[in-house]
Amino acid sequence: MLCLVILLSSAIFPSLGLEIVFEKCEQLVGFDLVESTLRVRKYNRTMPVLNGTIIMKADANDSFMVHTDLFHSRLGNQQFNHYPMKLPTSGMCEFIDHIHNNYPEVRELIINFPEKGACPITARDFHILNVAFPSRLVPPILPKGLWKMFSTVKEGNVDRSVFEVTVRAYSDNYF
Ligand SMILES: *[C@@H]1O[C@H](CO)[C@@H](O)[C@H](O)[C@H]1NC(C)=O
Ligand SMILES: *[C@@H]1O[C@H](CO)[C@@H](O)[C@H](O)[C@H]1NC(C)=O
Ligand SMILES: *[C@@H]1O[C@H](CO)[C@@H](O)[C@H](O)[C@H]1NC(C)=O
Repeated sequence: MLCLVILLSSAIFPSLGLEIVFEKCEQLVGFDLVESTLRVRKYNRTMPVLNGTIIMKADANDSFMVHTDLFHSRLGNQQFNHYPMKLPTSGMCEFIDHIHNNYPEVRELIINFPEKGACPITARDFHILNVAFPSRLVPPILPKGLWKMFSTVKEGNVDRSVFEVTVRAYSDNYF
């Protein structure tokens, strides 16, 4: 649902010496449930950050399933291949608990992040203010290049929201 969610799902890969920056964050589907002003902007010359507000207009419980699909462009030239990594799918409340348990620092990056154990996640505004990609959460095995992630929240077979996030992973300030 949130670009964040993607950011968080992506945190399954950890990093060392890899720099990861946001390139793009866009909501594609689900404006009746979620309204987002999240944008990638330049904080300064070298640092892209995510900034904006996600308005979640209804409560969400574990009937809302979070799915993530990952695409990789090794050369960073926009030719993406589906990346064959099985990413966990979980209910919204489980997902939030997973973040509390495994990536407690993420909570600090999102204003109004739900409390641990909360279910349903009640309707609210999430604010993300000038947050750079937390590269340190990502494993060093992550291949360089452009990564495009689709985070879909499904209720049954219905896509309730879809976000697309692109990040660039590089080392030595170079591709
Ligand atoms: C951009 O901002 C970050 C965080 O304040 C800082 O660490 C970095 O040195 C800045 N870069 C430039 C080129 O000003
Ligand atoms: C950053 O996001 C906040 C919260 O949505 C908003 O008030 C602010 O105008 C945004 N800043 C910029 C420079 O877009
Ligand atoms: C989620 O909430 C709806 C509406 O209150 C309810 O019908 C459904 O059983 C709940 N799902 C779960 C997994 O608790």
